[in-house]
Amino acid sequence: MDKSKRKTIIAGNWKMNKTMSEALDLTNQIKPLTNGADCEVVLCVPFTNLETVINALKGTDIKVGAQNVHFEHSGAFTGEISVGMLKELGVQHVIVGHSERRQYFGETDETVNKRAKSALQGNLMPIICVGELLWEREAGITEEVLSRQLKLSLAGIPDNDITKVIIAYEPVWAIGTGKTATSEQAEQACKFIRLCIEKLYKNELADSLSILYGGSMNASNAEQLLAKEDVDGGLIGGASLKALDFGEIVKAASIIV
Ligand code: 13P
Repeated sequence: MDKSKRKTIIAGNWKMNKTMSEALDLTNQIKPLTNGADCEVVLCVPFTNLETVINALKGTDIKVGAQNVHFEHSGAFTGEISVGMLKELGVQHVIVGHSERRQYFGETDETVNKRAKSALQGNLMPIICVGELLWEREAGITEEVLSRQLKLSLAGIPDNDITKVIIAYEPVWAIGTGKTATSEQAEQACKFIRLCIEKLYKNELADSLSILYGGSMNASNAEQLLAKEDVDGGLIGGASLKALDFGEIVKAASIIV
């Protein structure tokens, strides 16, 4: 295993926060704090803010992502957004299978798989989220859950596409709770995820895949989490809404790179 082979990625997930004018403000604050960082920075913003944020970030290295995408190209899917719609705006990444989508909007491993495949076909990089619930951790079945989620979410994705996939390990009990996984727990899970990828794909592909940790990552715990061998970055919720905190996390990742 060689961490230096992998891209370090810090992605902000703004969730359902920020109106268009607020998004512009936040982007303009984040820009000078993160542009030119030694890691990849991605802002995953609400659909309504994509165009504004993309325009505000023109001429920088900061990438913009969406938080969901539908798997069909077009049709009678009221309220949904297609890969083509995102691509035309200049979106490069999309979060797929976030636990909040699974919990509140009926997302399943099967639909995660369909969305991921559709994103890859359209040249969008999916950030596929996996992670166990509290009772699953307490019942000692974390690895079983991760292995099932990965196998099903990645079904039918060929070798040449897995290089464009990013995995985010987000233990559900750590999301928005202020209860961060310890760096050891994060490392153990991310290492296990890499082992699962190794079983499904060639070793060198598993070795070059970026695996992010998400769940109450903040400016004070980022460095410790990001220093771990198999933690290649972070998917940040709450702290990505505060420019200074997000900037500190990006700085912590850049030191590690
Ligand atoms: P918090 O950082 O707010 O815990 O959210 C994590 C997350 O869900 C990122 O996708």
